[in-house]
Parts: sequence; C-alpha cells; structure tokens
Amino acid sequence: MKDDFYERMKPRLHKRIGRELRLARHVLDLGCGSCDLVRYLVETYCQEVTGVDIASDSFPKRRRSREGVRFRCLRRDAVRLPFAADGSADAVVTMWALHEMKRPTSVLAETRRVLRSGGELLVVDFPKDSLAQKLWDEDYYRPDEVKRLLEETGFSEVRVRLIERGQVIWARAYQPMAETIQ
Ligand SMILES: C[S@@+](CC[C@H](N)C(=O)[O-])C[C@H]1O[C@@H](n2cnc3c(N)ncnc32)[C@H](O)[C@@H]1O
Repeated sequence: MKDDFYERMKPRLHKRIGRELRLARHVLDLGCGSCDLVRYLVETYCQEVTGVDIASDSFPKRRRSREGVRFRCLRRDAVRLPFAADGSADAVVTMWALHEMKRPTSVLAETRRVLRSGGELLVVDFPKDSLAQKLWDEDYYRPDEVKRLLEETGFSEVRVRLIERGQVIWARAYQPMAETIQ
C-alpha cells in the first residue's frame, strides 16, 4: 500500500525532473537506487547520465536504454566523486536520498566541485512531518533546513517549495557563475 503511493508518484516526479533538467547534457543522479530516473532521462532526453549510489544492490543488470544506449551506475559515496572532473556536470539531481546521506554538507560541497559554472542542482525529497515520515519513520528535513544547507554550501538562487500536495520538497539551486564566485 505505501509502496503503491510512492510508485505512482515516481513517474510524475521523473517527468517533472526531466522537464526541469532537459537542457543539461551531462547529469549526475546522486543516490540513484535502481537507476529508474537515470534510465528515464537517457530514454527521454538522450542525456549522458551517471547514477551514483553508496550501495549497488539495486543497480539494474542491464544498463542500457530501450534503444541500447549505455548508462553508468557507480558504487560511490556521494561525498567523493573522483570520476567527475571539476565543473564537468551540467546538472546534479538527488531524489529521495539527501535525508539518508550521513554527511549532507560534504555531499553538497562535492556537488559544487563537479557542477559547471551556472549548473543546476535539484534536490527532491520528503519533508519532515510528511506522510513518508509516518510510513517509514525516517528523519527528514524541513524545507527551510534544505534552503539553509544549500545556501551555506554556497549555492545561489536557492528556491525551495513543496509539491505533490505538500508531500515532497522541490529545491532548485545553481552553481554561481564563475565571475561571481568569491
Ligand atoms: C530512498 S533511496 C532513493 C533511490 C532513488 N533515488 C529513487 O528515487 O528511488 C535513497 C538512496 O540513497 C542512497 N544513499 C544514501 N547515502 C548515500 C551516499 N552518501 N552516497 C550515495 N548514495 C547514498 C541509498 O543507498 C539509497 O539507494
């Protein structure tokens, strides 16, 4: 029952994330789990997408889109992404995963390192006191806490709001343009 609720929400979120990041060429998905979002972006927008997760148990065996385009799922802690050069990602997304990351500030600092100037970060997660919290009894952030985390890590134009009838945090932030980085 609880899985149904979120499984039904997932395609809507994938669609929304896809629309938001459609212009990015190289995208990283941090905490990608079973790589469903990675596959969706590759199949819908032909983007070059790399999924990263600290655990590989959910990775799919077949890492190709319907059309046979290969995508990468890498087992890594998102605090360190040695495969990604500085400024090499156009966008980074993390869906339903930030609350699980033990060192969120370090993950966000590493995200800033790999994002190009003006690149976008999208954080999609459940908020504190949401239905998800009642179902899974996990500790989630409040929207203002996500905003503070992003601002304190140096992201610019941070916008955080609730979507899906208040059940999901949608946070958008940007890597400051090169000339404005202090
Ligand atoms: C609730 S799952 C969400 C999976 C997927 N994003 C989705 O939308 O279904 C959270 C994922 O975050 C991963 N995770 C937790 N801490 C992490 C870290 N430090 N670095 C990378 N992945 C992490 C977990 O292993 C798990 O697969």
